[in-house]
Amino acid sequence: MSSRSLLKAEETSRKLAAIYAPIAAELAESERIFAEELGSHYPFVQQLVDHCSDFQGKRIRPALVLLTAQACGSVQPAHPVLAAVVEMIHTATLVHDDILDEAMIRRHAATVNAEWGNETAVLLGDYLFTHAFHLAASLETTLACRWIGHATNLVCEGEMQQIHNRGNLVLDEDTYYSIVRGKTAELTAVSCRLGAHYAGASQSRVDDMEEYGRDLGIAFQIADDVLDLWGEERTTGKSLGTDLEKQKLTLPLIRLLNTVEPSAADKIRQMLAEPEPDRSLLRSYLDGSDALEYSWDRARYFAAQACSRLDDLPESPAKTVLKTLTQYVVRRAS
Ligand code: IPE
Ligand code: IPE
Ligand code: MG
Ligand code: MG
Repeated sequence: MSSRSLLKAEETSRKLAAIYAPIAAELAESERIFAEELGSHYPFVQQLVDHCSDFQGKRIRPALVLLTAQACGSVQPAHPVLAAVVEMIHTATLVHDDILDEAMIRRHAATVNAEWGNETAVLLGDYLFTHAFHLAASLETTLACRWIGHATNLVCEGEMQQIHNRGNLVLDEDTYYSIVRGKTAELTAVSCRLGAHYAGASQSRVDDMEEYGRDLGIAFQIADDVLDLWGEERTTGKSLGTDLEKQKLTLPLIRLLNTVEPSAADKIRQMLAEPEPDRSLLRSYLDGSDALEYSWDRARYFAAQACSRLDDLPESPAKTVLKTLTQYVVRRAS
């Protein structure tokens, strides 16, 4: 990792550590459970697991489990386990996603596929998925397994829907949201649902928290898609531009194509269909349109909707953090 990238990584984790302060101990416990569950006697497997533990991400999904728990009642022994489970599922999807995207950098480090090859990355992703369900099955009932299993099914469907639409240069905004709801928002939604349910929240509060997580996830993915086009790799710590390279149309490009003259739209589509699209020309089209502004507007819309789902929650430090996260996701640079 370069020293600038290292500084950015430290800056992000410092910022988030401050935001997560009310659940710091529980988050640390979930990380311990994560590492313990994945431990292996085989040095090579352990090396891969250590890679996942050493290079942590923003830990948004485990934080959501713990924050919704605290905001709806209190953190119970099941919560750090559930937090570890959702982070394991998330990590598995990233390990597999980096194969699909041929990405080289993730969390300011080499991706598993770049360092150890695609075969190892496929197997590590499988190892993470199976451990997630093994761990979830340690809870008293099968409820969490059912919910997380269902959410993960929908995440995979979202990813498959996206793969199916690769190269579809007339992708519409509604299909885009449907993909995002699956691949990203299902996991943030179920994280919040689990947090609330296992804290003993009422049915309607559990539903509100799930919707909070879903809207937050959509806002989060729109921001991610903006960063893929306008972000900096040393700040995000991951390979960018892969949506373009893989001809995955995201909101900014959909908006651009919907708003330019038909002749310009044809030209842009021709460019997008090329194996190596002219990034700077595309960028000038994007910058001459309202694509960036529009995408942030949509992200802010979903973030505001997420925030409104918190209205009926009693005031608490955890609720304040859940609110802060709705602002964080639409202001983030990493
Ligand atoms: C990346 O998720 C994949 C998306 C859903 C956009 P994160 O940005 O939460 O990844 P980490 O866990 O912080 O690395
Ligand atoms: C896919 O989204 C990640 C999942 C939600 C499974 P992206 O391809 O946009 O994620 P990044 O940008 O590589 O983190
Ligand atoms: Mg990707
Ligand atoms: Mg992305």
